[in-house]
Amino acid sequence: MLNKIRVAVLCSGGGTNLQAILDAQTAGKIASGEVALVVSDNAGAYALERAKGAGVATAVFDRREVRDRTQREQAILGALRQHKIGLVVLAGFMTILSEAFTREYEGRMINIHPSLIPSFCGPGFYGLKVHEAALARGVKVTGATVHYVNEVCDGGPIILQKAVAVEEGDTPETLQKRVMRQAEWQILPQAVELVCKALLKKA
Ligand code: GAR
Repeated sequence: MLNKIRVAVLCSGGGTNLQAILDAQTAGKIASGEVALVVSDNAGAYALERAKGAGVATAVFDRREVRDRTQREQAILGALRQHKIGLVVLAGFMTILSEAFTREYEGRMINIHPSLIPSFCGPGFYGLKVHEAALARGVKVTGATVHYVNEVCDGGPIILQKAVAVEEGDTPETLQKRVMRQAEWQILPQAVELVCKALLKKA
């Protein structure tokens, strides 16, 4: 019988959400899963340093080297199988995955998005662009969402959401930081534990 779900975290950049998961693990807040692999499509991603610092295996399939998306996805799937991954976490992974890929991990893949879905999500809404759009629309409340990944970009069932206030004088950068600190870094580790726990029950 499995006693922990092996988790892979896919990142393209800084990896602060990866760090939040690793810190939660160290603090004993993720009892049902363990981060076993970090995958990046960007060889320069600082997330890879964070993984190495935590002694976690890494796999890199750089977008500039493996240019064909199908080939890149096949390589990622190979690494996930090799490491016997039971849950895939997209944490700042900036490539939209194909329907074939999402099917492979249906119900076993989650994503963090920096807005309250269904606002400011879907193709073209990623990173700072999400916060630029929220400020341009003049919303007073934004936040973050963790959801299951399916073939619709940012369209899978919602797991957790947390609201964050927009403040007078916010820039996309200040808003991004507040959404990360007050919402993303809290709900992503919580969702990892929730989903791993549920997956363990099914295993
Ligand atoms: C995070 O804000 C994450 O929610 C967002 O990119 C940032 C990555 O930061 N993801 C998306 O926009 C996906 N559509 P991180 O690398 O420091 O975790």
